[in-house]
Amino acid sequence: MRILILGTGGMANQHAANFSMIEGVSLVGGVDVVPERLAAFCSEHGIARQFSSFEDALKWGEFDAVANVTPDSIHHPTTMQAIAAGKHVFCEKPLATDATLAMEMTDAIEKSGKVGMVNFTYRNSPALQKGRAMVLAGEIGSVRHVEASHLQSWLVSTAWGDWKSESKWLWRLSTKHGSNGALGDIGIHIVDFASYGSGLDVAHVFARLKTFDKAPGNVIGDYVLDANDSFTMNVDYSNGAVGTIQASRTAAGQFDQLRLRVYGDLGSIEVIYDTGKSTLRACVGSDVNQATWREIACDLVETNFQRFAAAVKAGETQEPSFRRAANIQKILDGAVVSDREHKDVPTA
Ligand SMILES: NC(=O)c1ccc[n+]([C@@H]2O[C@H](COP(=O)([O-])OP(=O)(O)OC[C@H]3O[C@@H](n4cnc5c(N)ncnc54)[C@H](O)[C@@H]3O)[C@@H](O)[C@H]2O)c1
Repeated sequence: MRILILGTGGMANQHAANFSMIEGVSLVGGVDVVPERLAAFCSEHGIARQFSSFEDALKWGEFDAVANVTPDSIHHPTTMQAIAAGKHVFCEKPLATDATLAMEMTDAIEKSGKVGMVNFTYRNSPALQKGRAMVLAGEIGSVRHVEASHLQSWLVSTAWGDWKSESKWLWRLSTKHGSNGALGDIGIHIVDFASYGSGLDVAHVFARLKTFDKAPGNVIGDYVLDANDSFTMNVDYSNGAVGTIQASRTAAGQFDQLRLRVYGDLGSIEVIYDTGKSTLRACVGSDVNQATWREIACDLVETNFQRFAAAVKAGETQEPSFRRAANIQKILDGAVVSDREHKDVPTA
């Protein structure tokens, strides 16, 4: 598979590093609207062809798939162009900025017969995959209650860089720049994590979104800082279970932590992903009577990059698919309506 990297910013490095390790995959081109960034990226990853626009890359056309690593609002127009040109697409999350656009992309890729997958990174966590397998095998019985959180601290820490001056953080704070805040950025991950790990769909959402004051007038240069920084959701799942899902960019002390606890009528699991490392604990069987938790060993799992390469080779989309991402997007859209109108919103 010959792959073109579209958008050569921070996350594109992970795409290049992961795809270049897969046998049969070659990085043949890069595209970015910032020439110096593009040149440095292509030089670092040994990419021969550079394009200042996706249109120019499409005219050249000598690639099979696009890794779309542009900012969120650029995913929809460029992915639609890629699909029209007959390319497979591995798109960054969120697939689009709302469910209508995400569903349009889903319908288009399915109609084209090409592979369309989305990088829900935390699916690469062995603990999540093993935890889900335990839930689906009935080891914790019927799920009754689910707690999920995704916590980051880049708004209150310098460890990730300076959000007040770097464009890669500033666009994430501005709806005009296509960001749906913490909800669109990490909410999409934790809603997928909670739903995938519990094996359940979210049926209703009641949400509260919060945007904190961060600068004089909440404006820095061209960026109006109006996108949400934290959210909480109360959700009902398809089987009648209830739960909470929350996320924040202001959680001092957490670089990138996802936590999922799934409680059933026969036992419970806890999945923790913390800045690259994941662990699974379970309290099942007679351990429930002493509330004893044991760590569960987990085998390594394939990455989304490997799954995408295998899917293109086989000519069949694997999960996480565009359709899955569009369905998760419906829950985020439901959360926005819920917050605005202070009401419970059906999302199934
Ligand atoms: N899966 C994950 O865990 C994860 C982690 C980080 C970022 N992301 C996603 O990856 C995407 C990129 O994020 P990032 O952190 O790399 O942002 P970034 O701002 O560092 O990089 C985006 C790049 O796209 C370029 N770009 C903008 N418009 C373009 C266009 N029309 N054509 C070509 N290039 C264009 C920018 O110049 C920039 O270099 C976002 O959608 C983000 O949500 C996902």
